[in-house]
Order: sequence, then structure tokens, then C-alpha cells
Amino acid sequence: MNAETALRNSAVPAGLLQSRAPRDTFAAVADAVCTGLLRKRKRLPPWLLYDDEGSALFEEITRLPTYYLTRTERAILLAHADAMVEAAGLPREVVELGAGSASKTRILLAALSRRQPRLRYVPVDVSPSALSQAAIQLRDLSLVDVRPAVARYPEELGFLRRPAGGRRLVMFLGSNVGNYDPPRAVDLLAAVRRQLAPGDGFLMGVDRRKSPALLLPTYDDNLGVTERFSKNVLTRLNRELGAHFALDRFRHVVTWNARASRIDLYLESASAQRVAVDALGVKVDLAAGERIHTESSYKLTDARVRQLLERGGFVPEASWTDERRLYGVHLARVPLD
Ligand code: AVJ
Repeated sequence: MNAETALRNSAVPAGLLQSRAPRDTFAAVADAVCTGLLRKRKRLPPWLLYDDEGSALFEEITRLPTYYLTRTERAILLAHADAMVEAAGLPREVVELGAGSASKTRILLAALSRRQPRLRYVPVDVSPSALSQAAIQLRDLSLVDVRPAVARYPEELGFLRRPAGGRRLVMFLGSNVGNYDPPRAVDLLAAVRRQLAPGDGFLMGVDRRKSPALLLPTYDDNLGVTERFSKNVLTRLNRELGAHFALDRFRHVVTWNARASRIDLYLESASAQRVAVDALGVKVDLAAGERIHTESSYKLTDARVRQLLERGGFVPEASWTDERRLYGVHLARVPLD
């Protein structure tokens, strides 16, 4: 492990680390600004939202009464964990992309560890602090060997290439797939699929398509937590690139795009402004009312989910939903050729 990796991983409890390829965060953030903000249709990549502060704010979102996704997914896992791990073939290794704090994952791991005593759990996240939370959450599941990995996906999944020593299950929960435009979602699934062996499983949680009357308040809560979450990306650019964004000169805007079946989050400039980004020596010009797109959240029908899985090279095998049919958890497999 080199010095940079050691430093980045320092928030994760000692002894739980897996070394990984170094990554130049500064260059990635700089590139995001150059390609996203110095153009007419302004956008920032959603991974920028999830630094330590952003991940903590997202955790706060998951506890809001208006944000039904997390607690609905948890209820589905609670009701069906045994069936899920059984259908996945009692894997020896569980890899979780975008693990966050792993509070839902423990439901599956607890069900699995009762039947698979030699269990390894590999939470993968861009945020080291989220990973240390994950490890802390699972301390009491003494049978589970936890090996966190700081990585971005799909670019940095190479570490999965080493053998798992048995069947693997990759989990992609929380409707994180909703951040990706469908072609990119397929790319991601295919990239995961390439690291897996025949018979391995893929478990994906997806927010289902529903009325915008229910969706819009989910992303525009009256406590302003989602607004703080969204604006945190500007704070990050101020800190990491010496940018001069004034948060009160932006508004949190949420729209429903029925044709694309997605929620879009924007930061809308309240007035015409020119914002300097010192570290890059550039200035970002914004007109009054101009928007910066920060995140999409696709809402998928079951048929659409199956289509994405199939295009990624998986065979859809089973799915579970809640009483109100708000949310779906889908299991797919790598075909045995
Ligand atoms: C983490 C991408 C699943 O789309 O619901 C929640 C992100 N952004 N509120 C979602 C999010 C604002 C969340 N995902």
C-alpha cells in the first residue's frame, strides 16, 4: 500500500483494509469542473456529491419521513433475506457497491452467516468515512470477515479480479443504479459481470416508477436536508479547488422528466454571476435562472430493470417488492454458459 492509499484509508479501522490502486481525486474533481461547468448545459457528476459531508447528509436524508426508499428497501430485505441468500446460492463473498453505512446489508449478512460460516464482506465506496461506518455497524457479526475497499465504479473494479474462493454475490442496493443513464447503467452492470464467474449473483435494489406527486417531495423535503446535500457539492469545490461559490446565490430545484422516467436535481443560479475557480484559473459564468444538473434518479418499471440486467449479461432470476409496490429488489445470475 503506498502512502497516498494509506492516508486515504486512514479513517477505516486498522486491519480491515484492502489495498487498492491510487486515484487522483484532485484531477478527477478538476476534470469534472472543466468538462461540466465551462459549457452551455452545465452539469456535475453525481459522485462529487458523496464526499464525507455529502455521505453524512445522504444518511440524514435516508431518515427523513419523506424519503421512503431506504426504509422500504429495509422492509423488503427483512421480509425476504432468507429467500434471497438461498436463491443466490449461499455465497462465500458478498461485495457491496456504494456500501454507505451498510445498515441494510447487515440484514442479509446476518441471514447468510447463519448458513455460510466462512463469509467475507467487501464494502466498496468512494467515501472512506462511510466505509468505517460500515465496518463499525458490522462489528458484532463476528463471523463476517470485513474487507473494505475505497474505489469508484465501474472504473476501479479491477480488484475483484482475484478469486473469491467460492460463489460471489455483488449487491447494488439503495437504488444507486438510478444515478446512471440507462446506457451507463448497462456499462456498469457489464463491468461487474466481467469480474464474476458463472453462477455468481447480482442483487439490485431499484425505486419503481410512480406518481410525481409522491416523488417530488421525496427530493424536496421541507426540512431542507436535500437542499443542503445538493449545495454541499459547491462547498466541496470551494474547499478542494479554491472556488468562490456563494451557496445562498443558488436554489435547489427538483423536476420530474416523465419521458426519461427520472427525477433531476439542479442548482439554479439566483442571479447572473461569475464564479472564479482559483486552482484552475478559470471563471464560471452563470445567467440568472441557469441550472447546473447535479444528479438524476431514474425510476424503473420491472420490465425495464430486467432489460438492463439482460443487456449487462445477467439472467434475471427473482424479484421482491413491498405491499405498496414502491420499491423492488431484483436477483440476477451470471449464466452457466
Ligand atoms: C443514492 C442515488 C439512490 O436517487 O434517491 C436522494 C440520491 N439525492 N436525495 C436517490 C438522493 C437526493 C439517491 N441515491
